[in-house]
Amino acid sequence: MRKALKFTTVLFVTLLLSCGGSDKKEESSSYGKKAPEKKEVKAPASQRIDLSNKGIGSITSVDLGLVVDQDMAAQGKEVFEKMCTACHKADKKFIGPSPKDILKRRSPEWVMNMILNPDEMVKRDPLAKDLLIEFNGSPMANQNLTKEEARAVLEYFRTLK
Ligand code: HEC
Repeated sequence: MRKALKFTTVLFVTLLLSCGGSDKKEESSSYGKKAPEKKEVKAPASQRIDLSNKGIGSITSVDLGLVVDQDMAAQGKEVFEKMCTACHKADKKFIGPSPKDILKRRSPEWVMNMILNPDEMVKRDPLAKDLLIEFNGSPMANQNLTKEEARAVLEYFRTLK
């Protein structure tokens, strides 16, 4: 008698637990955390946030100072105006995306690899590949900057908010 009672209790509890479990799953897939995740995948590449991707190329680590180096940023602005404004505007989308707030969306390494190694990036980096599609196949141009120039442009990008 006792054994039977114990058995039914265990069975009952197991049933309760498994029901509870599946209930929760249904809840989160209908309006819980899963919906925004799906949206993020669908966001256009230019707005996608991917801070862990360092891109492909010679840049593997970039140290950003705590505050913007204004001299370097001024130098970068000069390079940007000479070499990039044919396709990029600082504050809005043009032939390519605007670099405004770019470090909220990409890692500094990715940005520098995109500047220094765009040909390989648009072929092999998943984010750069999607960008190329979003911009109707017009590729990011290799302007043959030196590492120092690219680093200065990155510093200039930090001032664009
Ligand atoms: C001939 C046009 C052209 C020139 C010149 C050009 N770019 Fe681009 N760039 C693009 C296009 C188009 C894209 C987006 C499509 C792609 O990546 O293929 C892009 C993408 C980028 C991205 C990625 C932006 C993002 O939101 O992820 C960065 C960073 C960038 N360019 C920086 C530069 C810099 C710095 C220069 C100057 C040294 C420059 N570009 C010169 C056309 C150009």
